[in-house]
Amino acid sequence: MSVLLQTSKCIFRKPFNNTFCKYVFLRKNSDVPKKFITFDEVVAQRRAEAMRSVVVQVNSDSSFNELYGYCSKYASIKDIHHYKNSGGEHFMVIEFASEDNLKDVLKSCSSHNKDHDVISVQSPFLWFRAAVGNKEKFAATGKKLAVKNGTEICNEDVLLEDILNCETVSDQIQLLYEKTTLNDLSIRLRYIVARQLEMIFNSLYTNVKIQPFGSSVNGFGRMGCDLDLVLMNSITEEMGAASRRLVFQEKRSARQLELAGALLELRVAGVARLTRILNARVPIVKYAHEYAGLHCDLCYNNSAAVHMSELLWQLGELCARARALAVLVRRWAAATGLTQPHPGRWLTNFPLTLMVLFFLQRTGLLPSLNRLVSEAGKEDIRIAEENVNCTFLRDLNKLPADSYEQNDDDLQTLLFKFFEFYSQFDFQEKAISINEGKPIRKPNSLPLYIVNPLEQSLNVSRNVSYEECERLRLEVRNAAWHLESCLDGKKSDDWGILGLIEKKSSRGLKKLLRVGNSHRLVSMKDLFSDNDNEPSVEGIRSKMQKFVKTDKEVDTSVTEMKSEMSKEQKSGKMKFKNSQTASAVYRIRRDKII
Ligand code: GTP
Ligand code: MG
Repeated sequence: MSVLLQTSKCIFRKPFNNTFCKYVFLRKNSDVPKKFITFDEVVAQRRAEAMRSVVVQVNSDSSFNELYGYCSKYASIKDIHHYKNSGGEHFMVIEFASEDNLKDVLKSCSSHNKDHDVISVQSPFLWFRAAVGNKEKFAATGKKLAVKNGTEICNEDVLLEDILNCETVSDQIQLLYEKTTLNDLSIRLRYIVARQLEMIFNSLYTNVKIQPFGSSVNGFGRMGCDLDLVLMNSITEEMGAASRRLVFQEKRSARQLELAGALLELRVAGVARLTRILNARVPIVKYAHEYAGLHCDLCYNNSAAVHMSELLWQLGELCARARALAVLVRRWAAATGLTQPHPGRWLTNFPLTLMVLFFLQRTGLLPSLNRLVSEAGKEDIRIAEENVNCTFLRDLNKLPADSYEQNDDDLQTLLFKFFEFYSQFDFQEKAISINEGKPIRKPNSLPLYIVNPLEQSLNVSRNVSYEECERLRLEVRNAAWHLESCLDGKKSDDWGILGLIEKKSSRGLKKLLRVGNSHRLVSMKDLFSDNDNEPSVEGIRSKMQKFVKTDKEVDTSVTEMKSEMSKEQKSGKMKFKNSQTASAVYRIRRDKII
């Protein structure tokens, strides 16, 4: 994420998620620099950025000059960023100097399709048609792409190797955070996807707003996380004024998401694989946005969820260590299987993040939510749907400095203390409440109780089963032991956070690769000869046996691989080229495979 830093003369952009950048300054003429910017200000800047941006599909990143030259004829360009979607298609995000510039560009667009099934719709997603006739020549401007391949997720093997080479565990945690946290372009794109829907809905409704929430905006998101969106009826105070005597006749409907689903399916370019989950407590429409390469969840009138994201974002602003720690803990939970990509009787990232924030409150790094509520003024009053009170201090500059960051522990110490804290936590009797900032008595016997900060009568981990809670207790103890064992200073292959964030199933193989063992690698050629696309199980097994004989040290990894193979063989599901073992070997060191 980046913010616009404004001085009396100019506006410039500064990244603020790639370092421990604690303070953000937003300065108006002659103002004293502010230590913290508000969530609303960040959102307003991002929305404004999206309102002057388009996404253009191009042939490749070398289309830059032509696209720049062509668009400059219509409007002044601020920046162009390049990315590829999962299908390898190329896109450029163009930010123009103003919203009016964008309107001029949209006026110049054409609809390419004469098919009678297509009725064109205005949207910030465009494509760049090949020039007709003689190619126009554009003079070199010296301008360059602001970023190339900007949404590419860091290669896992490179990342793990870089982590291995870090000096300290704190450096490892910081590196993981910097390399995996949502970057500027990914956030821009998310706001443009929201803007695309807003444009379509606003051609039907008086005034709706589509607002991203969740990890896309709360400061805890990783590259590639899903995009949570909320469709909100955004009636301004002016529009709602009783003095306006002429009022629109309106139609009541509790089925707004049904229409939204149909619109998305039929009218929104890029939307694919749409599913409706309308009977849930929070009904949603799920879909993939193919141009943006995102998985999206759209819900309706859920401003409490946006305020929840605001709260999490604020706490992350108060203590940058919170974000780095939460990113690591989320990764660890995914690697141990405590969290899963689909919903079930286990933890999810949101309650897990609350657990991190709660722990940081216990260490004096963060204030309790009650403290933020007690410091709130009239301007902070927010009442969400169903009268959910979302009032808490918004301007963190007003918060007394001694109410946060009262601890100098480095990330390594904090991480160890986090695991130790939850190893000793009395889950049976106590609930976790970031409102109080201290454990409270559990109001019922559910295995895990994490108070919903904005609706305190609710438990955000009510779905977690007894077994999953036990697993959590076991895994935090394992993690604490692992970190303690790293204190002797010897750097083994699963040193520091590597032993926490690598999936156990792939650890054996990676170990084999890390300790200078590349010569022992199972080569793809050894496994599958060129003229033998579907080799026999026996063939592979005998080749694996050869490796067992070559070196006893790799015993574990090979046994793991063999058991994978025999399991698959028994279930009759073995697909050689795509088998987990083969692809893992291939993926781990493509460059080393002969
Ligand atoms: P990832 O998508 O896993 O990266 O994290 P996320 O924080 O976006 O979580 P998720 O997509 O599951 O939920 C999106 C947002 O909805 C969260 O950040 C919360 O603000 C809110 N949310 C999620 N689960 C609950 C819940 O059980 N109760 C309430 N009140 N809000 C929730
Ligand atoms: Mg999410």
